[in-house]
Amino acid sequence: MIMKEDLFENQRKDMILGQGAILFAGLAKKIDKSLLSSVQEITQLAPFRHMKTSGGFDLSVAMTNCGLLGWVTDEAGYRYQSFDPLSGLVWPKIPPLFLELALEAAERAGYSSFVPSACLINRYVPGAKMSLHQDKDEDDLDSPIVSVSLGLPATFQFGGFNRTDPLQKLLLIHGDVVVWGGKLRLAYHGILPLKSGHHHLTGSTRINLTFRKVF
Ligand code: SIN
Ligand code: FE2
Repeated sequence: MIMKEDLFENQRKDMILGQGAILFAGLAKKIDKSLLSSVQEITQLAPFRHMKTSGGFDLSVAMTNCGLLGWVTDEAGYRYQSFDPLSGLVWPKIPPLFLELALEAAERAGYSSFVPSACLINRYVPGAKMSLHQDKDEDDLDSPIVSVSLGLPATFQFGGFNRTDPLQKLLLIHGDVVVWGGKLRLAYHGILPLKSGHHHLTGSTRINLTFRKVF
């Protein structure tokens, strides 16, 4: 049966957000179930947790990582590190399927041979948000950021180099992949508070993967 939702999804088109920044509508949808089961395997080893900001506040988004390095924040500040502070163990490996998708998206956006060293996995529940920020903790700013959205839709804000630059707002839905790099590598971006809803694969959550090359 064709659902109204499917018609809407199929009509969506890739969208250029700026020089070197592009939304690939639904690119990850064909492998959505495998991506989500990999997330589940990863979180059995390195569970989602609410990290603390240096100011001592819990982030509303629950996070974990896979890869050689993982992004963490706690009272000592934020950084990339090779082990999970919860277990003391190295982060789970980035599954080959993740790497293939990240590479495909990067290549389509004009960034060849992208080899991410870190994949931050974010889980949003209704009300969770990510304030406007730049991804600037990576030494390698020549490589792009590749972001994969699964589950509930969310409003993504994408701006410029200054926090006050005008923002584009776009709805990211299940399967969408956004790549930004080049001149826009340090663009400010964020996620508005998630609206409640139900997704047949993720329930009342949104999962986001962001791939980064740290060094
Ligand atoms: C991020 O900026 O790290 C996450 C963005 C998103 O959840 O789409
Ligand atoms: Fe980010």
